Amino acid sequence: MSSRADIDVRPVTESEFADWNRALNIGFLREPTSDDDIIEARRAQFTPGRSLGAFDGGRCVATFRSFAQELTAVGGASVAADAVTNVTVAPTHRRRGLLSRMMAQDLAAAKERGDVVATLIAAEYPIYGRYGFGPATSTTEWTIDVPRSGLDPRWAGPEDGGRIDLVDAEGVRKLGPELHERLRRAQPGAVSRDELWWRITTGAVRFHPTFHEPFHAVYRSAGGEVEGMVAYTADDNWGDAKQPLNTARVKWLTAVTPAAERALWRYLCSVDWVVKVRSGWRAPDDLLPHLLPDPRAAAVTTQADWLWVRILDVVRALEARTYEAAGSLVLEVADGGGLSGGRYRLEASADGAGRCVPTTEGADLALDVADLAVLWLGDESAVRLAALGRVREERAGAARQADALLRTSRRPWCPDIF
Ligand SMILES: CC(C)(COP(=O)(O)OP(=O)(O)OC[C@H]1O[C@@H](n2cnc3c(N)ncnc32)[C@H](O)[C@@H]1OP(=O)(O)O)[C@@H](O)C(=O)NCCC(=O)NCCS
Repeated sequence: MSSRADIDVRPVTESEFADWNRALNIGFLREPTSDDDIIEARRAQFTPGRSLGAFDGGRCVATFRSFAQELTAVGGASVAADAVTNVTVAPTHRRRGLLSRMMAQDLAAAKERGDVVATLIAAEYPIYGRYGFGPATSTTEWTIDVPRSGLDPRWAGPEDGGRIDLVDAEGVRKLGPELHERLRRAQPGAVSRDELWWRITTGAVRFHPTFHEPFHAVYRSAGGEVEGMVAYTADDNWGDAKQPLNTARVKWLTAVTPAAERALWRYLCSVDWVVKVRSGWRAPDDLLPHLLPDPRAAAVTTQADWLWVRILDVVRALEARTYEAAGSLVLEVADGGGLSGGRYRLEASADGAGRCVPTTEGADLALDVADLAVLWLGDESAVRLAALGRVREERAGAARQADALLRTSRRPWCPDIF
């Protein structure tokens, strides 16, 4: 067995990419060998310096990649994020500190670059808290039992003068990016998508051995404006009694107005043969169940943590978001990673703007940087975290006051997985 010191952790070179891709497949329990066209497609994501590997005797045994992303803060400002993905360590090399080494290298580089936060979607809950990441958004998936929903099966299109049209992959690539930008600039927790994302989702670039072309439907308002789009697939299920019992699965649904949201869910529930609709990963406070006459027809299938956030710059993170009330709070932030700990005074004014400065004043609340990320996106309650022992009140009532400043009326949501 090679010792820790023998294993080199460093950025991979372009010529090592195929070996790195093989290690990635192994770590994710996928077939180790990819077709050449898939390797070439994945190479498009290769960013020199930000695709890391661990090498044992010249063989890649761990992978890690980060890329530039924008994350929407409460109030709509974008902050520069270091998006972490493709994290694997070979089963033969686990629990020897390789992830810790790759993470430390990447977060130090992100801090140096001036990124405000790092982000990721965690495969398993216990992995990333130790690196200062906190679960800052969650997601819910519903399965709609269409016949029980109370919806009129004779529906023939939106009642509001809008219309729904099916579009092909080219139409999605033309209309989708601007629509997503509209959504993500208004949705705390949402992240930017690059052009490659649209090519992968429409099958123009083959990233995985199997791709099934989805159906795509677009909602236009009465004024002709594109306000929503959905990508969905359907299975082929005729049951024992030779009756159509198909399930439609939403891959993604983007709506920038409640009218578009209502029309697209209504559309999905009206498709002939479809008796179940799986909603895909939605915001936990999505309108969906209440768009049905009988909301109980939408059963929760998944309820899970989703986007994890790691604050790299407390001052810029707290100044990027808006606040729900005026007030001030001194936060003692512990950071085991040594990147952003310290004591900070947050001053929120009545117009929603926040100002944050390092201070030596007495603290009101003490918390870990991972829990600050969770509060920062507005979803969690400081009072709840105090009850769990994760936030300590240094002044009585400070947790309640933090909630008045930080919590938001709608919940943050990240529609993407990366
Ligand atoms: C998760 C994974 C990357 C961890 O890599 P690793 O090199 O074994 O991690 P490290 O040795 O650096 O571990 C760091 C610490 O995290 C702990 N840890 C690592 N993975 C963990 C897990 N899945 N659950 C609980 N604890 C975990 C280690 O025990 C260690 O704790 P310690 O410092 O208190 O001893 C690796 O197990 C893996 O590839 N898993 C399969 C793919 C995967 O899930 N990737 C993540 C995608 S988001």
